[in-house]
Amino acid sequence: MHIPDIIIAIDGYSSTGKSSFARLIADEFGFLYLDSGALYRGVTLYAIENGLVSASDGIDVPALEKALATLDLHFEGRGSHCRTFMGDRCIEKDIRTLAVSGKVSPVAALPQVRDYVDRRLRELGKDKRVVLDGRDIGTTVFPDAELKIFMVADVDVRAMRRAAEMQAKGEDVSVGEVRRNLQERDYIDSHRKTSPLAKAPDAIILDNSRMTLQDQMIWLKDIVAGRFNTDVRD
Ligand code: DC
Repeated sequence: MHIPDIIIAIDGYSSTGKSSFARLIADEFGFLYLDSGALYRGVTLYAIENGLVSASDGIDVPALEKALATLDLHFEGRGSHCRTFMGDRCIEKDIRTLAVSGKVSPVAALPQVRDYVDRRLRELGKDKRVVLDGRDIGTTVFPDAELKIFMVADVDVRAMRRAAEMQAKGEDVSVGEVRRNLQERDYIDSHRKTSPLAKAPDAIILDNSRMTLQDQMIWLKDIVAGRFNTDVRD
């Protein structure tokens, strides 16, 4: 089974299952998985922990910009085992809390933060054989990606999936609370000035409201086989 040297860009709304799908693709194709949202979340965690973001004063942009010059966010491990680190501290769990989710969209809307994350992603993806997920991968980060997917799903399905995931990790959240956070993030992500969430004209839409991960993999393998003339089916 030969998969060509390509970049797979996955964009879409919050909690449409982009990262689960991207992790599975990384495993099956032997690609590196780059979780762009984790980098935005890492910057947000840094800002929260260092008092650079508050409810009343907003974000201390000059201080955050200064910190970005030396902030070391990176991934360790291949395939689905990709984990996010800040220096030598594993931040995988800390970046998935509702506290970070509640602040990440305004932080990710800052052009300085977007530049920082884009540079990291382009460095990590320069040799291809990567799958990335985010909001602007196919439009801004890798506009020449060979395969672009835009994921959508019903908001109630998304809220239930994300709430179950968080509850399983011991977070005390309700479906309604998660649904509100999702809708708020969808709105900010789609309406910000810099690199808003948008479908690239050449991206293929995947609505997975009623699909399992395995269904999605079959769907993808058919597309890869057809487009790159490669038989990737089992
Ligand atoms: O995919 P996620 O929920 O972990 O992403 C967290 C936030 O980061 C999301 O609300 C919007 C932002 N984000 C972005 O603006 N651009 C990306 N390429 C990825 C994420």
